[in-house]
Formats: sequence, C-alpha cells, structure tokens
Amino acid sequence: MSTSPAKRMLRALLGAVPPEPPPAPVPYSVPDYPALGPHHVRDARLFSDRGEMFRSFALPPGPVIGEVGVGAGWFSSFLIDHFRPSTFVAFDLFDLHTVPSIWGHQTSVLFEGKTHESYFRDRFAGRDTRVVLEPGLSHERLATYADATFDLLYIDAGHTYDEVKRDAEVAARKLRPDGILVFNDYTLFDVNGTPYGVVPAVNALIVRDGWQVIGFALQQHMFCDIAIRRAPAPALAPGG
Ligand SMILES: C[S@@+](CC[C@H](N)C(=O)[O-])C[C@H]1O[C@@H](n2cnc3c(N)ncnc32)[C@H](O)[C@@H]1O
Repeated sequence: MSTSPAKRMLRALLGAVPPEPPPAPVPYSVPDYPALGPHHVRDARLFSDRGEMFRSFALPPGPVIGEVGVGAGWFSSFLIDHFRPSTFVAFDLFDLHTVPSIWGHQTSVLFEGKTHESYFRDRFAGRDTRVVLEPGLSHERLATYADATFDLLYIDAGHTYDEVKRDAEVAARKLRPDGILVFNDYTLFDVNGTPYGVVPAVNALIVRDGWQVIGFALQQHMFCDIAIRRAPAPALAPGG
C-alpha cells in the first residue's frame, strides 16, 4: 500500500522510516557568455523576416558583399538582385554534391547533376555583378582578403561555437568600419537539438569588442538573423 508524502514525512520525522534522499540534480548546462544590455540594442529594429531587414540596409552604390556559407544560393540570389553589388564573394566548402541529400532534397536534383561549385557558378553566370567563388574553409578563405574590404558580410557557414567565433573574428577585420555583419541562426540549437554556437559567439563580439545590434529578423522556426555594426565612438564631453 502506498503512503502519502505527508504521512511519509511525519513517519520520517518520528524516525520510523529513513528520510528520502534529495532528488538527483537535473543536468543543466548553459555556456558562459555575456548577455546583451539595453545600450547594445538601443538602435535595433525588429523585422518579420530577413529579406525585410536586408531591404532596410542603406549600402553604398555597387557594394562589396560576402556570403559566408552559400548553400544552393537561395539567399545569394536575393542579395545579388537587391543590392546589385560590384563584387559578390561566395565562401563555401562547395562539397555538398558528395552527400546524397540535404535539406530534404536529393543533391543530384538540387545541383542539377553538377558539382556544388559548378552549379553555383552556372547559376550566377552572366550577371552584372562579378561573382567570385572561394572554395574552402570560410575563415581561411576570408582571411586572404584585405582588411576593410566588405560593406556587408552574411555569416551562415559552420554553426559550432569555434566555427562561428573564427568566422566572426576574421569577418570583423575584413568589414569596412561602417559595414554591417549579419549572422543567420541566432539560436541555441538546431532542429535535432545539436547545440549552435551563434548566440555565444555573437554576444561575445558585441559586448567585448564594442558592436551594437541594428536589426533582428524573425524567422518562422526562430532561426532568426541578427545584424550588428560597430558602435559609434562616444562623443567627447564639452571641453573634453
Ligand atoms: C545553411 S547553408 C547556407 C545557406 C545560405 N546562406 C542561405 O541562406 O541560402 C551552410 C553552408 O555553409 C557551408 N559550410 C559549412 N561549414 C563551412 C566551413 N567551415 N567553411 C565554409 N563553408 C562551410 C556548407 O557547405 C553550406 O553550403
């Protein structure tokens, strides 16, 4: 016969039964990274989706844009059509044709029987924009560019903490001083529960290196985009 918790407690107090051991701690680990404060988001705008957010960016005419992790070029197409960049640089491993399927598509169908690289090259051939492909590890390929080259960099390649951190550090150097850095998938886990390092890496960059959020774009499944820019230098006090 089962005993109620109150009776068990009373009997325990009276010494009739040994007290129940405390429940085992539930594993709960949250990586240690800085939270954003009000001043980091003071000038941020909220958008319904990433397209809306990117349309709000005022870039110089004929900007230089890099997309770090292009996939099949779905968003590259938007970036090229909308901004008409003088140069668009596509950073990717370009090896997805070697896996049978990706994102619910057979890669042989998705890439029209070509390699990932040939498919992407053909897809964007003949545009006014000079489209440059940079096959390889994103942080290594990006590092070959001169500092302050890009007006806009979109980071969406490897999603582990180390990968995002490496991409973010190199991207920050390769961006013009007033350039915009956007990170896709500002969320803690993918759909299978695999941890993503985007939030820790982006927050650390913002808080430790003096950046501010200028836009946050919702996504239906919360694979949101966050756009950041270097915070302006504080105005000197009168007489300072
Ligand atoms: C999610 S897809 C990019 C999707 C694309 N930005 C879009 O919005 O349509 C990620 C891409 O990053 C590439 N990638 C993953 N890790 C990488 C790395 N370390 N260096 C370069 N590319 C990488 C993959 O090959 C894949 O094409």
